[in-house]
Amino acid sequence: MYRIGKEELDAVQRVFDSNYLFRINSPLKEADQFEKEWAELIGSRYCLAVSGGTNALISALVGMQIGPGDEVIIPAYTFMATAIAVLAVGAIPVIADIDQSLTIDCRDIRKKITEHTACIIPVHINGFPCDMQQILEIAEEYHLQVLEDACQADGGSYRDRRLGSLGDAGAFSFNHFKILSAGEGGAVVTDDRTIFERALIYHDGGTAFRPYAAELSVPVFTGNQHRISEITGAILRVQQSRLEGILSDLRARKQQLIASVDLTAIDSHDIQGDCGTTAGFIFDSPAQADAFCGAAEGLFWLPINSDKHVFKNWSPLYERLGGQNDFYNPYKMEANRDLRLEFQTEDYCTSLDLMSRVACISINPDWTEEELDAIIGRCEAAGRAI
Ligand SMILES: Cc1ncc(COP(=O)(O)O)c(C=O)c1O
Repeated sequence: MYRIGKEELDAVQRVFDSNYLFRINSPLKEADQFEKEWAELIGSRYCLAVSGGTNALISALVGMQIGPGDEVIIPAYTFMATAIAVLAVGAIPVIADIDQSLTIDCRDIRKKITEHTACIIPVHINGFPCDMQQILEIAEEYHLQVLEDACQADGGSYRDRRLGSLGDAGAFSFNHFKILSAGEGGAVVTDDRTIFERALIYHDGGTAFRPYAAELSVPVFTGNQHRISEITGAILRVQQSRLEGILSDLRARKQQLIASVDLTAIDSHDIQGDCGTTAGFIFDSPAQADAFCGAAEGLFWLPINSDKHVFKNWSPLYERLGGQNDFYNPYKMEANRDLRLEFQTEDYCTSLDLMSRVACISINPDWTEEELDAIIGRCEAAGRAI
């Protein structure tokens, strides 16, 4: 979360005053309005607000009819939630290497495709746009669906189209650490009516009894409970109005930092669309990157040290504990018997090397000119020290 204040408090107060916090049949329609506005901003036909980014991914996968028997390709560097979402629908996550932008490597996607592959989840990690053109070309060639994990990239873009709007569906997170935040929250976007309806049904166990149930064109199956409240909707509407300001301040500071230091910035598949939340600099060796981080005294971090984001730390996957019991564990499902269930850390040397050689710094959109100058000075001093 970058910016929050009185406007959000006022919006919450209005919800309290309405004496109705539930989104269905609410007089204020904050959640409904948020969905409409987010769909418009992202450039997608439909938006469904849900209780978190993980649930957005799960709802989207349900919408896309991904399930047992399917392999889903995900990158080696992402929050474990991306893998968890795949397992939650009964499918198997297959890990692909990352490239020098720290996003999924398209050459490795091709290598990981089998007759069981049904979907690719490119993750715009740290707000870095993935190579969407190539990903969409691969998807078309192999008849795969694409779900963009834009949980760390609210509002970013690729070739002037918003992230999340390029694939069959996109998932966003609005948890505390994201560009926009309501503490928790998420959204699914799609242009596909069937994906939307299935996600809508799944996210609300009460769908059969909702005012819109009769208008649905897909049969209502039993769902779950991932609804947002009017409070979340109200906060997110205000947060959304802050988006362009946050992004332009992040991007300006990131660009100034990159231009001012004598360090090699990592590749980008679209530096204009990059969210600006993080700048990465690549070094010749892990030891050099580590020494730089040490010399910069806490300013930088190495992706390899960000535990839950590194595939080699996803112990439930290694241990094949994909569900609450054997029956719900995709690793034990008969439909998944012939799928790629195992992965070895040694097969992902490229990812491990890149995650160890790129020093990242989190950008603050509210750094003053003086603060940014001081940070640039510390970067330069660290660069000289190694
Ligand atoms: C890349 C990525 N995907 C998915 C998620 C899950 O989002 P949430 O925590 O809102 O469920 C996150 C959250 O940190 C994330 O960073």
